Amino acid sequence: GLVNTRDMFAKAIKGGYAIPAFNFNNMEQMQAIIQACVEASSPVILQVSAGARKYANQTLLRYMAQGAVEYAKELGKNIPIVLHLDHGNSFELCKSCIDMGFSSVMIDGSHLPYDENVALTKQVVDYAHQHDVTVEGELGVLAGVEDEVSAEHHTYTDPADVIDFVQKTGVDSLAISIGTSHGANKFKPEQCTRNAEGILVPPELRFDILAEIEKKLPGFPIVLHGSSSVPQEYVKIINTHGGALKDAVGIPEEQLRKAAKSAVCKINIDSDGRLAMTAAVRKIFVDQPAEFDPRKYLGPARDELKKLYKHKCENVLGSAGQA
Ligand code: G3H
Ligand code: 13P
Ligand code: NA
Ligand code: ZN
Repeated sequence: GLVNTRDMFAKAIKGGYAIPAFNFNNMEQMQAIIQACVEASSPVILQVSAGARKYANQTLLRYMAQGAVEYAKELGKNIPIVLHLDHGNSFELCKSCIDMGFSSVMIDGSHLPYDENVALTKQVVDYAHQHDVTVEGELGVLAGVEDEVSAEHHTYTDPADVIDFVQKTGVDSLAISIGTSHGANKFKPEQCTRNAEGILVPPELRFDILAEIEKKLPGFPIVLHGSSSVPQEYVKIINTHGGALKDAVGIPEEQLRKAAKSAVCKINIDSDGRLAMTAAVRKIFVDQPAEFDPRKYLGPARDELKKLYKHKCENVLGSAGQA
């Protein structure tokens, strides 16, 4: 069945790798994630966002994840699979997911005043732990849009807060802000330099803050949101096949590789998958304009997504071979 994150994170910290947390809201994405992780023999976290619940229905997604456990076995490997609520914003929403069979939830009180974040997170932890469900909390605010909340600047996690937050709330993992952000435009062009080909090169993540947090919480599971790399090959295919993505830039994979070796044991990736699928679909629409069977474009989009996610497990997060 579905498992919570407890053992998975303990092993990842010891082993110096990170578990991929991939968002899904439809069947093709779920298939691609499971195919990739079975072939790579990687544990995986399937994440459902508030937007995904609205789009696809929480009940359907929950049973798709249950189906994913059986699907993985059919493909030949019983990999550990977590079903996780991404960016839960209220006790009621977290409770509803816990009651329905999610094995992990995030309560994101990061935009609230500190004491309110502590109180809300503790309320969720107290309920979740009665049901053997693990909880991710967040301290610090990522720049950009996070659900309905949007922030102009990063508020980096203050290492001085982390011990108090973890002790008071009892969370199982902590999402932090060290310079990542959601979406395909993680940095403004003026924050970047340009390489010889004119490609934007972003500033480094704040590994100094991560190191301070690790010193305060030795062996405690840390989570990175907003960790898509925004592969420029996909941006190029999209833009040469009718798309219009401007100044798209992500977190270089080298930095994620480095983060995965630290106490960071969950790395969230959604936008890269969107880019992979969109590139594949746009190319088929241009190259094969007579096609009108959705399987003829969603199938190749699924294959591209699988290839990308396998690459993340094998070459970036180090989770391959750990299932
Ligand atoms: O947290 C952000 C994820 O990429 C989910 O985005 O709310 O559009 O599904 P979404
Ligand atoms: P990206 O937008 O960088 O893929 O981040 C996804 C995420 O953090 C989901 O919670
Ligand atoms: Na790690
Ligand atoms: Zn996120």
